[in-house]
Amino acid sequence: MILLLPFTLLSLTWLSFVDAGSVTYNHTCVVDHQRLQVGTYQFTTDCDSMTFCNSTSFCDWRGCRRDEFPFGYDNTSIKVPPRCDTGYFCPDEESGCQTMLDVGSACQFNRDGNSY
Ligand SMILES: *[C@@H]1O[C@H](CO)[C@@H](O)[C@H](O)[C@H]1NC(C)=O
Ligand SMILES: *[C@@H]1O[C@H](CO)[C@@H](O)[C@H](O)[C@H]1NC(C)=O
Ligand SMILES: *[C@@H]1O[C@H](CO)[C@@H](O)[C@H](O)[C@H]1NC(C)=O
Repeated sequence: MILLLPFTLLSLTWLSFVDAGSVTYNHTCVVDHQRLQVGTYQFTTDCDSMTFCNSTSFCDWRGCRRDEFPFGYDNTSIKVPPRCDTGYFCPDEESGCQTMLDVGSACQFNRDGNSY
């Protein structure tokens, strides 16, 4: 039972986090496909777990991470992006650190947050 616990925790972390697609770096994606799923708020994207769909509709390397041990970086030639410093946050798509927003300004769902 004890042995199963880490695996269970990892699975839950992944489930609650990103439903990554299969489009790899430098291939085309649809920005509008990036969204939180109804009901679970799971983030969904066309791009794989190391990339996000950028504004010109290509999967590009992620610029920040929100997990200490992010899912999908099993290829050691790809550097895991940094966590954001205090005063910054990493958006759902993990495109890169952004400065924290003022209270009352528009934000992503549940991203009104903290320093990760
Ligand atoms: C991205 O894809 C284009 C078109 O296939 C190619 O010309 C370019 O070299 C690629 N860039 C990188 C960094 O892989
Ligand atoms: C989007 O990603 C592609 C592929 O890496 C890159 O060539 C392009 O410059 C990026 N667009 C922006 C706006 O960063
Ligand atoms: C790791 O990524 C590099 C660069 O994208 C790629 O050339 C290589 O085939 C990948 N290796 C594995 C085991 O996926």
